[in-house]
Amino acid sequence: MRQPLVAGNWKMNGSKESIQALIGGLKAGLSSGADAEVVVCPPAIYISETKVLLEESSIVLGGQNLCDHAEQGAFTGEIAASMLLDFGCKYVIVGHSERRALYGETDALVAEKFRVAYDAGLKPILCVGELLEERESGQTEAVVARQLDAVLNMDGGVAALADSVIAYEPVWAIGTGKTASPEQAQDVHAFIRQRIAEKDSGVAAKTRILYGGSVKAGNAAELFSKSDIDGGLVGGASLIVDEFLGICRAS
Ligand code: PGA
Repeated sequence: MRQPLVAGNWKMNGSKESIQALIGGLKAGLSSGADAEVVVCPPAIYISETKVLLEESSIVLGGQNLCDHAEQGAFTGEIAASMLLDFGCKYVIVGHSERRALYGETDALVAEKFRVAYDAGLKPILCVGELLEERESGQTEAVVARQLDAVLNMDGGVAALADSVIAYEPVWAIGTGKTASPEQAQDVHAFIRQRIAEKDSGVAAKTRILYGGSVKAGNAAELFSKSDIDGGLVGGASLIVDEFLGICRAS
């Protein structure tokens, strides 16, 4: 059995005040527990503040990004895996489509970040997903396969996936209010699991695959009811207490 996971990606949003209110609301709302493992990924500068606010709660911390160099050193503006661990992060998002599109992250760089995170003891949340024009031209599976293979074909990549998370996030559904239908999402999730199974069926059965792209309290239950959808990676709705609680409870 795969434990459902709901991760909130706050992106570049928040202030000390808003984060206090958000965590306060989530802690109160989740005090009776949720079946899902709940993760929040604040902007790096707020990780330490969020860690303090999360005391006595089961909510887990994650980073949004990390440096592709394992060793600390002269990499201005970067954050090492060891630093995320130092502040109690368990997860880290790698290869989010915004990193790929806006900051030029290639499949190879994303795979390197995945490896550095995993080797350090973080659980990577590897994001994959196609652009609208790629879906419309029938390339969804080819694109997702290419992004996934960059990690699957690394030395030790398959084994690492057993203990990592994949997030299928169609780029056309991110922040647009346009969600993939549960069937569209399930098809791609099944494709991802099958591709892992071709290497190792035991790993494929264990890997959690999240859906991301305009997940809300109102559509989460239907998405999460699909057999290969193990939870969600949530952007906008993770900043709104009632929305995020609704999604956590839907899993
Ligand atoms: P969204 O973002 O929920 O705002 O669509 C999802 C994501 O980017 O992870």
